[in-house]
Amino acid sequence: MIEASNLSKAFGLTRRAAQPLLRTDHRRDAVDNAGGFLAVDDVSFCVERGELFVIMGLSGSGKSTLLRMINRLVDPTAGQMSIDGSDVVGMSDGDLREARNRRISMVFQHFALFPHRTIRENAAYGLKVRGVGAKERLERADWALERVGLGNRGDARPAALSGGMKQRVGLARALATGADILLMDEPFSALDPLIKREMQELLLALQAEDERTIIFVTHDLNEAMRIGHRIMVMKDGRVVQCDTGPQILSSPANEYVSDFVADVDRSRVLTASSVMRPPAITARLDESPSAVLDRLGELEMNGVFVVDEQGSILGVARDDLLARAMSAGESDLRSCLVQEYETVSEDRPLAELFQLAGRHVVPVGVVDEHDRLLGVVPRAAILSSLAGPRKVMTNA
Ligand SMILES: Nc1ncnc2c1ncn2[C@@H]1O[C@H](COP(=O)(O)OP(=O)(O)OP(=O)(O)O)[C@@H](O)[C@H]1O
Ligand SMILES: [Mg+2]
Repeated sequence: MIEASNLSKAFGLTRRAAQPLLRTDHRRDAVDNAGGFLAVDDVSFCVERGELFVIMGLSGSGKSTLLRMINRLVDPTAGQMSIDGSDVVGMSDGDLREARNRRISMVFQHFALFPHRTIRENAAYGLKVRGVGAKERLERADWALERVGLGNRGDARPAALSGGMKQRVGLARALATGADILLMDEPFSALDPLIKREMQELLLALQAEDERTIIFVTHDLNEAMRIGHRIMVMKDGRVVQCDTGPQILSSPANEYVSDFVADVDRSRVLTASSVMRPPAITARLDESPSAVLDRLGELEMNGVFVVDEQGSILGVARDDLLARAMSAGESDLRSCLVQEYETVSEDRPLAELFQLAGRHVVPVGVVDEHDRLLGVVPRAAILSSLAGPRKVMTNA
């Protein structure tokens, strides 16, 4: 939906002066020597419709500049940028205003609320500048305030609100515009941890309801991991890595990223799906106890998931019960079936898996909504994932 290719921004130089410098091998130095500064350096990325895409990096890494190029508050020095296939960089001012008005809304860390206007009027402000009539804009403001949990505060003045509530008004202002693309520049970074958490939950809920496309800038990797479908890590204007949170955790692109990752609570970010593996064996109800026991013995395991034709779990066959059924001359697994296992969905965090692991002879099963066995999570896999990615071996 949003596609950026080879975007660069050099501050302090005209486009005509900067463009040839960007084509050289040492473009950063070349721009620098000419008295400019290369804030964004050859960045490409795509954001899908309905995706919550996070841009993460330290102060000065070019996040805000990049975000502002998306709605052209900053003009790129070079590169292409399109929304739904239509070019944004070459757009006329009129078309650009139209696109900004109808489709894109921005939320900042410190945005100004008008102190003498009510919360409702503040939330309606984005519509006012878009030329929407008074009645409609106040209705839409009320609707948006309701959605951010401030439905009963429309008549209050900003001074009566806490910092977190003010950010809710900012979010309501963006929602009220009806824009399907939200650009958010560190909107929660000034908030206390608990309030920040609440706002992240609210954002995730709002996003899931309407499939809005959100590009969210933060310098906090924990925040990025909590909310981002994908995270683009930036350093000195360049993209260092662009992946899902679990991918970044398990295979950081370089030392810079792994230093960031060291502070992340892995047990909350990694989920069952990121550590599960195919089950070493499964059994069917009509198999003979002796055949299953042989396979278990080879793998040195004490139990096995028994599944039906669709792969749904029927139960577990334990080795001691298999041995008894074998001596009794039984031809299938019916008599050995016990309901001794734990299952989780793919999105269950590791933190919650840990206490389930090790209770039974089979590992924790990961299932879909039809109870079909997608994979298993042995306790050792949880422990090794929590311990972090393997150190990259380098030739000293
Ligand atoms: N208008 C400007 N003129 C000159 N340099 C600028 C301008 N805007 C930003 N820069 C420089 O470009 C670099 C990237 O700035 P940017 O604001 O995009 O970084 P950021 O990642 O958003 O940082 P922060 O986390 O502090 O907000 C910085 O070194 C900044 O000083
Ligand atoms: Mg910034």
